[in-house]
Amino acid sequence: MKVSVSRKAHFNAAHKLYNNEWPEYKNEEIFGRCANEYFHGHNYELIVTVTGEIDPNTGFVLDVNILKEIIKNRVEDYLDHKNLNLQIPEFQKLNPTAENIVVVIWNRLRGHIPGHLDMEVTLYETPRNFVTYKGD
Ligand code: NI
Repeated sequence: MKVSVSRKAHFNAAHKLYNNEWPEYKNEEIFGRCANEYFHGHNYELIVTVTGEIDPNTGFVLDVNILKEIIKNRVEDYLDHKNLNLQIPEFQKLNPTAENIVVVIWNRLRGHIPGHLDMEVTLYETPRNFVTYKGD
């Protein structure tokens, strides 16, 4: 019997989407307003879900307060109020799209979540646009 436990979190960050190999007109064609050289911000929301057996000793899959602390330390403190392109090493050469951000977040969390639990991260870039990564 497997149960999923989820925790929501939030951070604000700025980015621009740009491919340095391409001329300006192509960046504008592909990324539109997101290519604006002066950056723009998003209110990112994320949902981290861990799935596994209930521990018979605690009744928990994972103590949600522990999950909350891991997300705070590994994601919120790292990304909140940052310029992703300029301040986050992972995005020095990687376009900070929602797809790439969710993979970076997943990788920063995985080693801190007990290995017997599956983990999935959903990242909302806007209330209507979101991506999900399960580590596949
Ligand atoms: Ni954007």
